[in-house]
Amino acid sequence: MSSLTVTGLTKAFGATPVLRGVDLHVPTGTLTALLGPSGCGKTTLLRLVAGFDDPDSGTVAVGDRVVAGGPGRGVPARRRGIGFVPQEGGLFPHLTVAGNIGFGLPRHERRDGGRIRSLLEIVGLDAALAARSPHQLSGGQQQRVALARALAPAPSLVLLDEPFSSLDAALREETRAAVATALDATGATAVLVTHDQAEALSMADQVAVLREGRLVQLTDPQTLYRSPQDLDVATFVGEAVVLTADLRAGTAHCALGPVPVDGAPADGPARVLLRPEQLRLSAPGPVPGELLALVGAVDFYGHDARVGLTLPDGTAVTARLDGADLPAAGAQVAVTVRGSALAFPTSVGTGQPTSVPA
Ligand SMILES: Nc1ncnc2c1ncn2[C@@H]1O[C@H](COP(=O)(O)OP(=O)(O)OP(=O)(O)O)[C@@H](O)[C@H]1O
Ligand SMILES: [Mg+2]
Repeated sequence: MSSLTVTGLTKAFGATPVLRGVDLHVPTGTLTALLGPSGCGKTTLLRLVAGFDDPDSGTVAVGDRVVAGGPGRGVPARRRGIGFVPQEGGLFPHLTVAGNIGFGLPRHERRDGGRIRSLLEIVGLDAALAARSPHQLSGGQQQRVALARALAPAPSLVLLDEPFSSLDAALREETRAAVATALDATGATAVLVTHDQAEALSMADQVAVLREGRLVQLTDPQTLYRSPQDLDVATFVGEAVVLTADLRAGTAHCALGPVPVDGAPADGPARVLLRPEQLRLSAPGPVPGELLALVGAVDFYGHDARVGLTLPDGTAVTARLDGADLPAAGAQVAVTVRGSALAFPTSVGTGQPTSVPA
């Protein structure tokens, strides 16, 4: 098992820079989710790490071993000890499940039925599937075979490129859990590329957010959600309520009334971030100073619901409530805020949180 360290990695295709100096450290035995919008360079980064392509500058090290960008030529992909699970699984259609899993193994191990069986077991598949062809498997089963194939040579690092994107919601959950268990069982270090913020937050030890070829934040899921680097990251990793505000003595005065702000923000104009689950609704009582809102659309998801609200000044916000006790569209409700907001300067949309240096 090895860590992964990427330093100052750049890559351009023709005149178009795709990676603009990426630094990333993935500690041994942990899973990092690589999250970012389409086209930001996620697959390119994985391909450089795997050795399918060479960086323009910067280095890739697996453990202490520099495999790309060091002196001399890069280590060839097959000698990096890295397993790769491509998007859509990419199984060989003419080989059986056992043939696919054994593909990267030395010849004498390929026919070792025990080894294939134990790999099937690791990814939570029945040994009876070994003789099937890929087209006789469900999408989720194919993904697990692709993972078993990547794990077969006991790689120290596994790279997964959007492995669940083609699966429906239920199968996605189940395959995600099976993959997490399999990675845990082998202790492999892993990088998982995803578009899906819920997947990133739920599966990863740390989340790396890539934007326009740069890593903009690398931290654990809870910190990423609660203290995003800037408003772009905030809106990318979950739903956000963003309001203009006037900050005075640690309180944001905004369309939701006075809201306490995290940290020690400088006084002045700012934008504040709340999450929809921080808004609480109740029946309006005659309470002095209470904030009344008009309920718009109510989207019911079962476990919870999104409720659109129009505030007295016309601002539209969204609340996320548990699904049990929902207001009706058109109703008037009282709104309160739970917890505090995070403040960002107004001048630049992607600025960092406003804090007075200690
Ligand atoms: N071989 C290539 N030649 C030219 N341009 C390329 C090549 N590979 C990727 N690109 C470009 O580099 C950019 C980043 O591509 P990449 O595949 O890394 O994005 P991504 O973050 O994986 O996106 P997605 O989420 O859609 O998979 C894109 O603009 C893409 O068109
Ligand atoms: Mg991609």
